[in-house]
Amino acid sequence: MTTSRTLPIEVRGSAKQPLGMSPAQFLRDYWQKHPLLIRQAFPDFVPPIEPNDLAGLALEESALSRLIIHNESRDRWKVKTGPLTEKDFASTPDSNWTLLVQDVDKWDADVAALLEHFNFLPSWRLDDIMISYAEPGGGVGPHVDQYDVFLLQGIGQRHWAISTDPDAPKDFRPDVELKQLQVFEPTNEWLLEPGDMLYLPPGVPHDGIAFGGPCMTISVGLRSPSQAELTGDLADYLAERLPDELRYSDPDLAPAKAAGEIDRAALARLKQALPFAAGMDEATLLDWFGRFITRYRNAQLPVPPEKATTEAALIKQLDGGAQLLRHPWARMAWARRKGGATLFVNGHAYPTSVELAERVCSERTLEPGKRVPVDEASLLVALVNDGHLVARKSKRQ
Ligand code: SIN
Ligand code: CO
Repeated sequence: MTTSRTLPIEVRGSAKQPLGMSPAQFLRDYWQKHPLLIRQAFPDFVPPIEPNDLAGLALEESALSRLIIHNESRDRWKVKTGPLTEKDFASTPDSNWTLLVQDVDKWDADVAALLEHFNFLPSWRLDDIMISYAEPGGGVGPHVDQYDVFLLQGIGQRHWAISTDPDAPKDFRPDVELKQLQVFEPTNEWLLEPGDMLYLPPGVPHDGIAFGGPCMTISVGLRSPSQAELTGDLADYLAERLPDELRYSDPDLAPAKAAGEIDRAALARLKQALPFAAGMDEATLLDWFGRFITRYRNAQLPVPPEKATTEAALIKQLDGGAQLLRHPWARMAWARRKGGATLFVNGHAYPTSVELAERVCSERTLEPGKRVPVDEASLLVALVNDGHLVARKSKRQ
């Protein structure tokens, strides 16, 4: 079995080389790239914790544990989150259940000592050691993890199935809270013995099922913050350090040509106020700013009407002479985009034409006139249904 013609997916380890190769070779060829099964990564492996101690830990108030029972005939999954009780364990069936305890390395120094074998990785990339105990058939079902993981077999045998197909579907089953995959078609399957270790990079669908008897699996999990988490925290970090007096400023302001437009000069000033975002894609920066500035310092927000209107109903009202009044709390702005404009209202963005964006921003009362073009009607309906415009009979009638 090979991942490519030259790269084996299965190797044999030894006490000297738990990865079956040098750490440098593992990092170059497999780390974050390809799964690898290492037979006897830990020869004569003796797990550092007994199943009973793991169960005892699951009773602790602050330990993170889950008991998962699979009703195979009905394909129902029951998940009980810890702290667990003696009663929970007393009522487990003979098979098809598993106990999982996270962060066991924080509770048990012998378990933490296992991490020394992973010191070829930066220590801050390591998350925790999760340990599972399962009776035959027990597991968490097919799923995908966002992090690298080393799955070391501790006691008994576990059947592992994985998919190396980069296009494997990743949709979740809607009926199970375990984020199980709806479809899982394995490309590789193995039976792991104590001391065998399976490395999985992020995003590889996998399913491990206890086989034959009691089974303990030790998962050394890595952590890597998402770009969303990094961005959010960096923004908080920078914001905390910036003095309140440093603000968006426009001493060079020229008379506005079009009401509400966030124009090129405003975009340039924005980049000056956000030096770390200067390299950002302009369309994204504008989209964010338009939403932000129309929400900024709004003490209240318009509320959508109880009953939404339709395009036909609104056209009828307008043809009958009704006006559209801007809600007093509706804040508006617009920006040019490829092929038209984006109108921003109270944090919402609506694609439209430059003409209509300008008009909606400049006129507090819209008199659309006898004929309302269809492309205008769809924007006006959206604005009415979001509460930003209110249709009212014209006073002049
Ligand atoms: C397990 O130990 O049962 C599950 C580990 C995993 O698949 O992430
Ligand atoms: Co997993």
